[in-house]
Amino acid sequence: MKPNILVLYYTQSGQLRDILDNLLADILPHTNIDFAPITPSHAFPFPWDAYTFFDAMPETVQRIPIDIEPLPEAIYHQQYDLVILGYQPWFLSPSLPITGFLKSDFAKVLTGKKVLTVIGSRNMWLNAQEEVKSDLLRLGANLVGNIVLTDSNPNLISTLTVIRWAFTGKKEASGVLPAAGVQDKDIQGCVRFGRPIYKHIQDGDFSGLQTDLLHAGAVDLKPGLILLEQRGITNFRKFATYIREKGGPGDPNRRGRVLLFKRLLIIGIFVLSPITNLSAFLQVQIKKRRLLKDIQYYKGVTYQQGKL
Ligand SMILES: Cc1cc2nc3c(=O)[nH]c(=O)nc-3n(C[C@H](O)[C@H](O)[C@H](O)COP(=O)(O)O)c2cc1C
Repeated sequence: MKPNILVLYYTQSGQLRDILDNLLADILPHTNIDFAPITPSHAFPFPWDAYTFFDAMPETVQRIPIDIEPLPEAIYHQQYDLVILGYQPWFLSPSLPITGFLKSDFAKVLTGKKVLTVIGSRNMWLNAQEEVKSDLLRLGANLVGNIVLTDSNPNLISTLTVIRWAFTGKKEASGVLPAAGVQDKDIQGCVRFGRPIYKHIQDGDFSGLQTDLLHAGAVDLKPGLILLEQRGITNFRKFATYIREKGGPGDPNRRGRVLLFKRLLIIGIFVLSPITNLSAFLQVQIKKRRLLKDIQYYKGVTYQQGKL
């Protein structure tokens, strides 16, 4: 009998679905795969208008769930050998539709299941995955693997291109800037993860799956990004509380604070980032041993509360 796989995912541009299709291409003929897209009841715009984009930060960071459309009833009656959860970080946290799913009753489909997470990000996904790990634990699911796709361009370039992509929908290269998002060759390269996944399903033993995936290059993580993400999420959390004191999403009373957040984020990224990068570089030299240990942790699938 062919093994059964459930693939739950959310995608705005289609990039994550593309990643998942490539990941599963090799094992498709040997498995039964059910795809179940997660759909917010009120769609987020794509391309985004700038205000809606920045206004989404507080609820994303505070993990306040949005409503999602019901998932197909049939998935609650099927035995799955593996569930794949494909998601993307927004503001260093799981995207709102994924939080909407993970904090809803629909997430009971994960209870008792082996789960493989697949992340399609720019390059900052650590806190998001810590949040997802904690949700999976609460739901009684067992995280057995994690594959992370990032944009391999330098930090500042990938920031510029993701902004162009989010606000205009233009993913392709333009002017001096390369294409946005995960590089096509890396998306296509996901096919190499299919075999180890299939082997562990066949063995009925997922204990060595993440080790095998890491050997195949499933997670690439630079130590400086750990420090940048720690700093970023600390500031986002403070700003999220500050904005929400004035009201919920779309509330005109919080407009001034949302616009202040937008300005400070832009200054932080484009004006202060050379200083931040230099300070992160110096800290990497000082804290090297601890950061190398942290890298091992973030590449793995275990969960320690309060890591970030
Ligand atoms: C509102 C928003 C915030 C984002 N924040 C992050 C982030 O914190 N870290 C990151 O690596 N990528 C971030 N991204 C990029 C996404 O993770 C993702 O790679 C991109 O939106 C494409 O995903 P899609 O498959 O939904 O189209 C953000 C994108 C959006 C729209």
